[in-house]
Amino acid sequence: MHEVDPTSQSNYLQIATKHITFDWTVDFDNKVIAGTATHELIAKIDEVSEVILDTSYLHIEGVKVDGDAVQDFRLGPKHEVMGSALRVPLPRTLSTGSSILVEITYRTTANGIALQFLEKEQTQGKTFPFLFSQCQPIHARDLAPVQDTPSVKLTYSASVRSVLPVLLSARRISPPSDGPAHDGKIIGKDEVVYTYDQPTPIPSYLLAIAAGNLQYQSFQVPDGKQWKSGVWSEPELMDKSFWEFSRDTTRFLAAAENLAGPYRFGVYDLLVLPPSFPYGGMENPCLTFVTPTLLAGDRSLTDVVIHELTHSWFGNGVTHAHASHFWLNEGWTTYVERVLLQIIHSPAHRGLSCVIGYKALLDALAFFEDKPKYQKLVIDFNYGEDPDSAYSRVPYDKGANFLLHIERTLGGLAVFLPYVKDYIATYMGHSITTETWKNHLYAYFQKNGSEGQIKALNSINWDAWLHQSGLRLPVEMEYDLTLANPANALADRWYESRRTTDISKLDFKSSDLDSLDANQRAVFLERLESYNESLPAGHLFHFDKLYSFSTTLSAEIRFRFYTLVLKSPAAMYFVQGAANWVIGADDTGVIKGRMKFCRPVFRAMFKVDPDLTISTFRQARTQFHPIAQSLIAQDLGLDLTGLRGSG
Ligand code: BES
Ligand code: ZN
Repeated sequence: MHEVDPTSQSNYLQIATKHITFDWTVDFDNKVIAGTATHELIAKIDEVSEVILDTSYLHIEGVKVDGDAVQDFRLGPKHEVMGSALRVPLPRTLSTGSSILVEITYRTTANGIALQFLEKEQTQGKTFPFLFSQCQPIHARDLAPVQDTPSVKLTYSASVRSVLPVLLSARRISPPSDGPAHDGKIIGKDEVVYTYDQPTPIPSYLLAIAAGNLQYQSFQVPDGKQWKSGVWSEPELMDKSFWEFSRDTTRFLAAAENLAGPYRFGVYDLLVLPPSFPYGGMENPCLTFVTPTLLAGDRSLTDVVIHELTHSWFGNGVTHAHASHFWLNEGWTTYVERVLLQIIHSPAHRGLSCVIGYKALLDALAFFEDKPKYQKLVIDFNYGEDPDSAYSRVPYDKGANFLLHIERTLGGLAVFLPYVKDYIATYMGHSITTETWKNHLYAYFQKNGSEGQIKALNSINWDAWLHQSGLRLPVEMEYDLTLANPANALADRWYESRRTTDISKLDFKSSDLDSLDANQRAVFLERLESYNESLPAGHLFHFDKLYSFSTTLSAEIRFRFYTLVLKSPAAMYFVQGAANWVIGADDTGVIKGRMKFCRPVFRAMFKVDPDLTISTFRQARTQFHPIAQSLIAQDLGLDLTGLRGSG
C-alpha cells in the first residue's frame, strides 16, 4: 500500500500549502477563470529547493516567489490522469517550518473537467449562463495549481470578479448573502467583486465555485445555534427549493451536532444546481451542492442532505489521506447518515436505507466482476490510476456495513456512539489512513472498554473486510425489515403471478402503492429486478398502466423502472422512452445528468439497442457534465479522445 498519495505529483511531504489567496475573474464569454493563486507554503523538512504543484489543462502565464518573478518554472509532460506537474525552483533553500509565497498567474482552459460552463439554455431561467465546479476526487488541479491531495489541508480567501453572482465553498465576506442579489447591480452586465474566506483548513477537493443567476433564502435556525443556513437557487426554482429543504435541513444539522460535536463551518447552505450536476450531492464546505432531482415536491429525498451534512465531520473534518482510504469518508458518512435516520425517524428507516444500500452494493460488486480490485474496501491504487473509474457504492456500503458489523460486535449503539465522538474529536482537522483509524479503535476500547470488547474486536475478520474482493460481504447482515416487508410482499405477489397468462385475472390495483413511500417503492422495484426470471411483457405493460412508473417525475423511481423493464421481454417497447427520458427529449425537458441515473440507464439501453443508445448519447453528449461524458463513454466502449472539451 502506498503511503504517499498515488494520484498527486506534488511534493507535499517536503513542503505544504497552508493558505491560498485567489484573485479570479470569471469570463463567461470565453468560458475560463483567469487570475492568480498565491500559496503560502511551509517547509516540512530541511533543504527544500522547489515547490511542485498539480495542474491539469491550465495555461500558466507567470510565477513569482516572494514577489519576484521566476523564469525557470517548468510545466511537466501531461499525465493522462494526474495532469502536468508545475515545478517552481526556489531562490533559497528552506528549512523545516519556514514559509514562502508562490504566486501563479494562470487561466483555466476548455479541456479541464472540473468546470462546466453552461449555456443559458441549459439553466432553469434560460436567460443567463451558469458555471459550477466539481473538484472531487482529483479535479481541483483543473481549477487552480494546487497540491491536489486530501493529505494537505489549507485555508483560503478569494475575491472573484463576475457579472453573475458567485458562490464559493467558504464564508461570504461581501456583498452580504441576504442583501440585494448581485449587490443591487445589473445581473449579467455589471461586474461585482465577491469576497470569501474559508478559515477552517480543508483539502483541495473541497474547493468549489458556482456562478449564475442565483438567489438566497435563509432557513430558520434552532435557538442557541451560532451557524446560519439557507438555500441558493435560480429564482425560478426558489419556492420549490425552499419548500423542499427548509423544514429539515437545520434540524438534521442539529441532530448531527448531537452525535458528532459542534458544526465548525459557520454556514450550512444548499445550492440547487442545473440538471447536468453529475452527483446527488457534494459536500462542499459551507455550501453543499445538490442535484435538482431532489426537488420531488414531497421532501422524500432529503436523505441526501443528511448524507452531505454528515460529511462536515466525516470527510471535511476527519479526512481520508488519499484515494485508497476513500471509504473513511463515504463509509463513515453512510454509516452515520443511517444512525441519524434512526434518531430522526425510526430504527425501521435505518433498516430501509440499509436494504437499499445493500442492493446497490451487490450491483456494484457484480459490476466490478472483472475488476476485483475495486471490490475491495481499501484499494491499492497504482501510481496515476484514475479514482473516477473506481467510483462505486463499494466504499459507501461495504464501509457502512463494516462499521455496523463492528458496532454490533461491540454491543450496539450505546457502546459505539461514545467511541464515534472520541474518533471525531481525536482526528478533527487531520487526514488519516485506515491503519490510523483501526489503531485508534483498538486504543479507545483498550482504554474505555472491557476485555470482552477487545476479544470481540479480535474476532473480526479484518483482512476479509478491508482487503479482500468478492461478490458478497464477508458477513451476512440482518436489517430491520419493518418497512421493506410490505414492498417485498407486493413484489413477491407480482412474481408469483407470472404464469397467469390472462392479464384480466390479475388482482392488482393502482392503490397498491398508496401505503408505500418513495423509498419503499424503490425497494419494490428493486426486488422485482432481483428475481432470476423476469415478468412477462404483458404483465409489465399492465404494471405500468396501473402504477404509471414510465411517466413519474421521480427520477429515483423512473430509473429503477427502466433498469427493470430493459432487462425484460418488454425491453424494446421501453427503450425509446428511456432514451427520451435520459436526455430530456420528453415532457421533463431536462437531461438526467446525475450519474446514478444516467449511467445505469445508458448501460441497460445499450444491451437492448446499441445503435439507439450510441446515437442518443452522441446527440446529447455535450449537455452532460464532462465527467459523466467520459464515464458513459467508458461504459459504452466509446473513445472520446479529441471530442471532449469541444462542447
Ligand atoms: N462526496 C460524494 C460525491 C463524490 C464522491 C464526488 C467521489 C466525486 C467523487 C457525495 O458526498 C456523495 O456521496 N454523493 C452521493 C449522495 C448519496 C450517497 C446520498 C451521490 O451523489 O449519489
Ligand atoms: Zn458522500
